[in-house]
Amino acid sequence: MEFDKGAADLILHAKNLKDTEKLAAFLAEQAEPGTVIALDGDLGAGKTAFSQLFAKHLQVEQQVNSPTFTLIKEYEGRLPFYHMDVYRLSLEEADELGLEEYFEGQGVTLVEWASLVEELLPSAYLHIYLEVTDMTERQIYLKGQGAPYGQWLLDLKREWGTA
Ligand SMILES: Nc1ncnc2c1ncn2[C@@H]1O[C@H](COP(=O)(O)OP(=O)(O)O)[C@@H](O)[C@H]1O
Ligand SMILES: [Mg+2]
Repeated sequence: MEFDKGAADLILHAKNLKDTEKLAAFLAEQAEPGTVIALDGDLGAGKTAFSQLFAKHLQVEQQVNSPTFTLIKEYEGRLPFYHMDVYRLSLEEADELGLEEYFEGQGVTLVEWASLVEELLPSAYLHIYLEVTDMTERQIYLKGQGAPYGQWLLDLKREWGTA
C-alpha cells in the first residue's frame, strides 16, 4: 500500500541535504536494538541519501552504498546497521530472505521501498515518505506505527523548530 500522506503524524520540510541530515542524526541518536525504519518515495527522492546520513550518525565508518543490487547489506556502527532495498524482490522472495530475523535482531534496519513488503514489516516501525518538491527540497512525512515511535515524533517535533 502507498504511504497515506493524510495520516502522517508529522510533516517536515527539508530545504536541503543538511536538513535531511538533521532528521537522520536525530533518528540515529534515538535508535536502539530492533529499531526499524521503513523508507518510501520515488526514485531519486533521497531514501539512499537519508540512509547514508543515518549510518554516519550511527557511527558507521564504512561507505554505505545503495543496496539496490545487494538487497541487504550489514554494517557495524554504534549498533549493527542493516540496509535493505526490496524494490527488485517479489513478496515471496522477500519472505524467503527472512527479513524478520533482521527486524528482531540487535541492530537497526532501514528498508528502502518498504511499502512493497508491507505485509512482512513488524508491528512497530517508523514510516518515512520522502517527496521531491524542488532540486534540493524535500517534504518528509513521518508516521509512527506503535511504540516507541510516537514519542520519538513528539520529541522531534519539539526539537525541529528550535534547532
Ligand atoms: N534535501 C535532500 N534530501 C535528500 N536527498 C537530497 C536532498 N537534496 C538533494 N538530494 C539528492 O537527491 C538524490 C537522492 O538520490 P537517492 O538517495 O539515491 O534516492 P533514492 O534512494 O530515493 O532513489 C541524492 O543525490 C541526494 O544527494
Ligand atoms: Mg535508493
